Amino acid sequence: MKQKIVIGNWKNYLNESETIKLAKEILDEKFSDNIRLMISPCNLYLNQVNQIMKGSSVEVIGQNITSYESTSDTGGVTAIGLKDLGINRSIIGHSEVRKRNKRSKSEDVLIEIIPTGFQFILCFENIEQIPFDILNNSSEMILAYEPVWAIGTGETASIEHINEIHRSVKSELSKLSLDIPVLYGGSVNPTNSKEILSQELVDGVLIGGASTKHEDLHKIINSI
Ligand code: PGA
Repeated sequence: MKQKIVIGNWKNYLNESETIKLAKEILDEKFSDNIRLMISPCNLYLNQVNQIMKGSSVEVIGQNITSYESTSDTGGVTAIGLKDLGINRSIIGHSEVRKRNKRSKSEDVLIEIIPTGFQFILCFENIEQIPFDILNNSSEMILAYEPVWAIGTGETASIEHINEIHRSVKSELSKLSLDIPVLYGGSVNPTNSKEILSQELVDGVLIGGASTKHEDLHKIINSI
């Protein structure tokens, strides 16, 4: 089986001591080369977790960025700020962010960061949200299909539905000769992860709630 990407999005679920404890537990994990693990703690603890993971194969990534360079943007997160911390990738366009911002600004941010090579996981709820024309193969980009009704609800999309969406996204990507992994996110847990991760069209999973519990994350990364 080809390598699968597993991303833990810890959102704002954990306080400082819980975050550090979980990071240290993950550092002690042994998992197969088939899994490429990324974790995304909340911004407050990003630097601490990145220090803990230094030298390990676990990549620490941001949960959102609002611009590339510093701007007058209260509460914003810049890509150069993340790069200063040694973090070179972020989730972008998560539905919880889109909802808070009322409109999607992910395309504006992508236009700024793509030429810089800053890497990202672009979340989309429908194929129209993917700006195919600005994607390329020059730095690693990742897409994540996240149906909003499946996020944090315990209602996972069916395997047929996941495959149908992934097939159409991959077909668009291949028309443009783009080699970009497509992940699935939405109530992934230890019970459904094996089936989801074993799908040929699924290049990995983006996990919220279950990734904040060590036992669940352990089971997910060992499910294939
Ligand atoms: P969930 O969240 O796994 O808790 O549904 C997924 C996500 O928000 O990426």
